[in-house]
Amino acid sequence: MKFFIDTANLADIKEAQEMGILDGVTTNPSLMAKEGITGKDSVMRHYKQICEIVQSDVSAEVISTTYDEMIKEGEELADIDENIVVKVPMSGDSIKAIKYFSEKGIRTNCTLVFSAGQALLAAKAGATYVSPFVGRLDDISTDGMALIEQIVNIYTNYGYTTEVLAASVRHPMHVIQCAEIGADVMTAPLGVIKMLLNHPLTDSGLAKFLADHAKAEKK
Ligand code: E4P
Repeated sequence: MKFFIDTANLADIKEAQEMGILDGVTTNPSLMAKEGITGKDSVMRHYKQICEIVQSDVSAEVISTTYDEMIKEGEELADIDENIVVKVPMSGDSIKAIKYFSEKGIRTNCTLVFSAGQALLAAKAGATYVSPFVGRLDDISTDGMALIEQIVNIYTNYGYTTEVLAASVRHPMHVIQCAEIGADVMTAPLGVIKMLLNHPLTDSGLAKFLADHAKAEKK
């Protein structure tokens, strides 16, 4: 399973990249706003900086909501770097735009997906990635992970090449469950990725190893 980091924070992206396990980056307008990135030039510059750190897929989301505007904005984003994946929120216009981009060889990530029907449309339009939001479904007492499983099964049935990118991943068990189900990718903040490192038996085991070593050295 590929690991993407879900952030626009350059320091977090660098740290994850230095861990050696990073396969890509996802951003969204809220994450860009959180970093104070506003205005077209700053947004473009910021995506370029991210692409200089990771040299792998970087999802850059359009702000436009109509077909013509999405095409224009998506083409400008795709021109920033060969690793840019144009992220479009699910809608009728977006499905048309995904089809257009896929015919032009521009890779896409269909985001804000909350149902299997939406995921089926994204795959039929030729999306590179589909992003079902696990945590936001859990937030409204709906099983987000069940949706990941449903989409993986549907795509397997018909051999769709669209990759299932589990988004809105909030804790380590989400990551493990995605891997068990066979999601192609999961995207999570750095904090969630680092939580995978932790186990109290690792900490106590290491403390004991080091204490025994120190005792033996003193003899
Ligand atoms: C996906 O690409 C989104 O950026 C993200 O995963 C949303 O996560 P959230 O629901 O924690 O905001």
